[in-house]
Amino acid sequence: MTIPVKIRGMEFSVPKLTLTNDDMAKLVETNDEWIVQRTGIKERHVVSGEEDAVTLGIEAVKKLINNTGIDVNTIDMIISATSAPQRPYPSVACEIQSAIEAVNASAFDIVAACSGFLYAMQIARANIASGFANRILVLSSDATSKFLDWTDRSSCVLFGDGAAATFIEKSDDGNDDIIAIHLEAEGKNKEFISLSLPNQNCPLAIPHQNPENLHIKMAGKDVYKYVMQKIPSVVEKTLAKANMTIDDIDYFIPHQANLRMIEALTTRIKISPKKVLHNIEKYGNMSATSIPCVIAEKIKNGELKTPSKVLLSAFGAGMTSAGAIIILR
Ligand SMILES: CC(C)(COP(=O)(O)OP(=O)(O)OC[C@H]1O[C@@H](n2cnc3c(N)ncnc32)[C@H](O)[C@@H]1OP(=O)(O)O)[C@@H](O)C(=O)NCCC(=O)NCCS
Repeated sequence: MTIPVKIRGMEFSVPKLTLTNDDMAKLVETNDEWIVQRTGIKERHVVSGEEDAVTLGIEAVKKLINNTGIDVNTIDMIISATSAPQRPYPSVACEIQSAIEAVNASAFDIVAACSGFLYAMQIARANIASGFANRILVLSSDATSKFLDWTDRSSCVLFGDGAAATFIEKSDDGNDDIIAIHLEAEGKNKEFISLSLPNQNCPLAIPHQNPENLHIKMAGKDVYKYVMQKIPSVVEKTLAKANMTIDDIDYFIPHQANLRMIEALTTRIKISPKKVLHNIEKYGNMSATSIPCVIAEKIKNGELKTPSKVLLSAFGAGMTSAGAIIILR
């Protein structure tokens, strides 16, 4: 028997600095028309000064704690889906645990890139279902802009920074807010999106050559083709796990990587465009933060009515992919 879970609250934060497409045109040879036509993105937020994945994460978590009124001492675990941290360790999760003084929580990061929120939700769900934890803070936080090649026009225009936080906890009323999650990975496509860190061998060993490019490298066309082939089958498997059809779904929130991809997926999975929610126009691709940011924003502005059954789909470096069906109450 598994223990049902409740999704409680969802908050996000983005840095203040906004870069419009006209700003991007000051950095690389590009223009608003190209970016809007090919991606749908109009602007994105990026960190500056001392801001990073940790400061963004703390802001999102503090908002969540204020809004839910949850006692930090009752948080058993903090999972941060973070793929572009300032430093690989200490983890972003441990930094946040310290900042909010969640003294009873274990804390760790997971790397599943833009699929990270759904991967983290499944880890949280499994820990609650097994009785190991009662309340888990699921976070996503990335300052991807710090790792972009700002001379590569085909990648730097796509991404934005942000963090999102939610509580996954043991359900007291028997209702389960997570109906199904399906996760996949295809490491054979690992070079489609990658980020290398500078490193060295022990001076007594054969020297190692660092890769020339220590920024995010992306084969955009390969990613595009991969997603078009992969996500419809991920959606199909997620619906099958939930014993549902696409007609049972109230809203579809796909990963916010490219509005053209979202439109093509909408057609492929045969869902009405009216049920598809996006905010990529304002934020670009915020990695694992994209999906929870759409949820939080659209609930707040009334575009996402609750209660509703929501289909989520994601893909990211790895390559990883994921689907989920959740109930937002
Ligand atoms: C990156 C992406 C927008 C590029 O769009 P595209 O239609 O495939 O464009 P192409 O790569 O074929 O490039 C077409 C031309 O536009 C140019 N171009 C690329 N970026 C440009 C930009 N920002 N502004 C102007 N021109 C640009 C290219 O250099 C190329 O010029 P050329 O024909 O003279 O060689 C698109 O492939 C994409 O979104 N892929 C998925 C990426 C993704 O989702 N990544 C995140 C994964 S989590």
